[in-house]
Amino acid sequence: MRQTVVLITGAAGEIGHALIRRIAEQGVEILTLDLQALPPELEQLVAQHFTGSILDEELLDRILARYEVHTVFHLAALLSTRSEFTPITAHQVNVEGTIRLLRFAQAQGLSHGHTVRFFYPSSIAAYGLPDLATKAAAGQVREEDWGRPITMYGINKLYCEQLGRYFQWHYKQLDAEPQTRRIDFRGIRFPGLISAETVPSGGTSDFVPEMIHAAAQGQPYACFVREDARIPFMTMPDAVDAIFALMEADPTRLRKNVYNIAAFNPSAAEVRDIVTHHFPGAEIRFEPDLKRQAIVDSWPAAVDDSAAREDWSFAPHHDLEAAFRAYLLPRIRQRYSP
Ligand code: SER
Repeated sequence: MRQTVVLITGAAGEIGHALIRRIAEQGVEILTLDLQALPPELEQLVAQHFTGSILDEELLDRILARYEVHTVFHLAALLSTRSEFTPITAHQVNVEGTIRLLRFAQAQGLSHGHTVRFFYPSSIAAYGLPDLATKAAAGQVREEDWGRPITMYGINKLYCEQLGRYFQWHYKQLDAEPQTRRIDFRGIRFPGLISAETVPSGGTSDFVPEMIHAAAQGQPYACFVREDARIPFMTMPDAVDAIFALMEADPTRLRKNVYNIAAFNPSAAEVRDIVTHHFPGAEIRFEPDLKRQAIVDSWPAAVDDSAAREDWSFAPHHDLEAAFRAYLLPRIRQRYSP
């Protein structure tokens, strides 16, 4: 018999770090896949880690042969800044990788007979607003609006949301034997995420976590966007809570496959002010990189997350003030204390 596990791809990344700890607390067996090894403190929490690529079909087949996977958290991706330097590779990892995982989940569903719950982290990058005047006028953007992303990563995310919906509801719709509903695809369009434990790499929303972690270590920071740059953010614990809330929600209550969520949406200057308040010596200056700024300018300043609040009771704990007081300051001070 095969062992029942949940599979996490991209497990060594920022969301993976937080998710592994929380799933392990529930006593569920975890299988992880990442190009990188897992740090030892995480590796001890998982049943098995595969160091390898999501594009490796043979590896996915080996997993299929040995494990019964009922839940997939498909986190592996190249983030938005990195993807712009290697867009074709980004497409391979972000789109080809996702379709392979969807096929893998479909095969799992057929082999064990249960629907596979598939979590997909989409992003604020799935949006594309043409200019700052439109961004200001748009206010809280709904899931249906402004789906014209300007980055390869955003385009990949938007398309993979559609792929997930296709696999769930329409896969091989003309076959004699219907193959739909083997996958229950659930996605969240995350805002920028801020973790006290890890620092992101290769994203465009990185200016906020970078600013906070630099100040906590007493290092100067040159912020790559303007003081008035504004997009939504949330803390990593709120992001992980949201993943669980969505994944545990009654399927009959879900009107969408993919939901917006956010907790606060400060300008870069407002983050600088709260950081310098808590770390009085912090040296933060603004040196906008006009190209990365243009990407941030194309993302909405706020999102309408009323569908998530109504359908699966999304309710973040941390606004900007609480994010610092109750989460970031205690954890980050502990992390960098000598
Ligand atoms: N935080 C991500 C990035 O900046 C967006 O999903 O790429």
